[in-house]
Amino acid sequence: MRLRTTALKEMKLAGNQITCITAYDYQMALLVEEASIEVILVGDSLGNTVLGYDSTIPVTLNDMIHHTKAVARASKSSLIVADMPFLTYNVTIEESLRNAGRLIQEGGAQAVKLEGGKPVANVIRKLTELGIPVMGHLGLTPQSVHQMGGYMVQARTFDQAKNLIEDAQILQESGAFAVVLEAVPSELAKLVTERLSIPTIGIGAGNYCDGQIQVINDILGFSSHSPRHSKQYADINAVVLNALNGYAQEVRDGKFPTSKESSYIDSQVLNDLLADKDL
Ligand code: KIV
Repeated sequence: MRLRTTALKEMKLAGNQITCITAYDYQMALLVEEASIEVILVGDSLGNTVLGYDSTIPVTLNDMIHHTKAVARASKSSLIVADMPFLTYNVTIEESLRNAGRLIQEGGAQAVKLEGGKPVANVIRKLTELGIPVMGHLGLTPQSVHQMGGYMVQARTFDQAKNLIEDAQILQESGAFAVVLEAVPSELAKLVTERLSIPTIGIGAGNYCDGQIQVINDILGFSSHSPRHSKQYADINAVVLNALNGYAQEVRDGKFPTSKESSYIDSQVLNDLLADKDL
């Protein structure tokens, strides 16, 4: 059975940590499901991890729908959240509604995520009033990388930290069902987590949050650069490179394919082909 957004609040109340991870394609989503991870985020981080951009800014709504569809085909029980990409939710409310609607209706997500605090409160209110669940995202918001001046820890000063706490409260009041806290000091994440009734999901925000999210490529060792807050649980780069080198070497040496990987034609058919004068 599909996990609902309401179940996350119950997990917070029960003190059970919420596990979340990004996924961008069918095969990975199958594995995430098998690991019983509660939330799959089809993050616009796919701009970096899958599409080779140097930020999430070039990612389009169609990119997000394409990848959300692939994840949705694999997923039966995790809650699928799809990121709303750059400028798809903050121009007009009407446009935001249509775009979120496409991620749900065409993509197959059950919820959307968008970045920012007070400036997106009205959009969150409207989406949630109309039945589209929204996850918020505060702290390091990668779509604002040019304004932030890089991917660094946010909200270190009193004013910035106070703003972040207020923004988190505004997101909750606007109807968000959870909020991602990215790259913020862990004591600040603790304050936010204690003040909110909705779950906080941390990434680079310490271990006081109600759950954690990571970019799947980072924890699998399937990226060229991993942020400091991530931990590598596998070395997929090494596994894949080893397999590719083995394959290429065997092809060059004439060792692949062998008879085991080949199929054969009936000898009579072969004789007829050899005897056919038209060939
Ligand atoms: O796009 C993404 O993967 C994200 C997570 C880092 C939270 O927003």
